[in-house]
Amino acid sequence: MTDTRREQPSPGAERAADRPAGLDNLTLARKEGWRSFVDAPARSQPEPLTTKDLRRLGDDALADYNQRRRVWHANLGPIKTPQLAGLHEDLWDIVDSNVQDGDKAKGAIAIDAFPGLGKTTSVLAFAKQFHLREIAENGAFTADGHERWPVCRVGLTGNTGMKDFNRAMLEYFGHPGHQRGTTAQFAHRALDCMLSCAVRVLIVDDLHFLRWRATSGIEVSNQFKYIANEFPVTLVLIGVGLAERGLFSEGDSYTNAVLAQTGRRTTALDMRPFTVDTDAGRREWRQMLLAIEQRLALSEKHPGMLADELSDYLFARSTGHIGSLMTLINRGCQRAVRTGCEHLSQDLLDGVKNDAAAETARRELDAAIQARRLSTRVAPARCLAG
Ligand SMILES: Nc1ncnc2c1ncn2[C@@H]1O[C@H](COP(=O)(O)OP(=O)(O)OP(=O)(O)O)[C@@H](O)[C@H]1O
Ligand SMILES: [Mg+2]
Repeated sequence: MTDTRREQPSPGAERAADRPAGLDNLTLARKEGWRSFVDAPARSQPEPLTTKDLRRLGDDALADYNQRRRVWHANLGPIKTPQLAGLHEDLWDIVDSNVQDGDKAKGAIAIDAFPGLGKTTSVLAFAKQFHLREIAENGAFTADGHERWPVCRVGLTGNTGMKDFNRAMLEYFGHPGHQRGTTAQFAHRALDCMLSCAVRVLIVDDLHFLRWRATSGIEVSNQFKYIANEFPVTLVLIGVGLAERGLFSEGDSYTNAVLAQTGRRTTALDMRPFTVDTDAGRREWRQMLLAIEQRLALSEKHPGMLADELSDYLFARSTGHIGSLMTLINRGCQRAVRTGCEHLSQDLLDGVKNDAAAETARRELDAAIQARRLSTRVAPARCLAG
């Protein structure tokens, strides 16, 4: 089982604590990986040093400091954005209200939004809190002596079929029977695991990778109906374009009772990008930049570096998508450290590449900002309050 001993915060141990937390999705595909994610200590921000301090560091100490800054900047967050906070509120409402007796089908959740808006990040942050709360309240073992696993997470990859999906649930639990069997047998074994381990939330990430029938989502819909009816869990489905695939639509030409029933039991939640066409939106954007600014470990950073000087620029380059914004900030910081520039500026960021979608959308926004049809600036009086 995973060793969850924590290291004391000596400088060397702090580095060691930074490394294993670099989890990838494959690690999260198994319960031990999930536990490491949940138990990973919060990263500590590298201590702020001035440029003078940096010059005084010996070569080894500087290399060590820069290594910690690399890891830190690559893992900023999760920041409590309004989108993340809003989603968490909804998730708590729904998951906590799903404690009806076993014979009642539980409400499912579908988080359906464009890529890079923070769906996975937000759901994992919620699931971590949920796991910790369940263990604190009910103990690490069930009344029957099984390990308690409040969360099961399955991430799908390209072209997954129903059988692979069921197998992935078994693999999460390290069930020996994940190699041979029919789709239905796999599902029954998964149900056994979930009952024994008192799973309460089943997260299915990147559901759009599931092989969807060309004509309608009935097979998929049936499977999730089965899980919602039989498994004592709240299903949290995450994906892109789920509504268009007919997961819970009632009104398209393929309407039938199955889809309608799934739709009735599934609450669709959204994640939105940042927008700057209202004062409230502009304030949110500014708050986000201020929050990032505080987290940067650059010796020449200064108040307002992002929130005042680069606000329009960062909006244009990210188009308000948190994924693109964080990529740009991360890469910019790596360059600022590597080149010794030690702060972020338009000059430096101009040299940093971002994802293709953000780069395409940027041109239009740039033009609108140049023509002063659009601004991210908060009205001055509110700026102080914000
Ligand atoms: N609240 C947050 N604080 C800091 N960074 C965040 C936050 N939310 C998202 N990010 C950053 O944005 C990136 C994209 O987020 P995430 O992978 O959660 O998006 P997604 O909506 O699941 O995208 P996809 O549909 O491609 O899976 C992450 O790598 C992370 O760095
Ligand atoms: Mg995702």
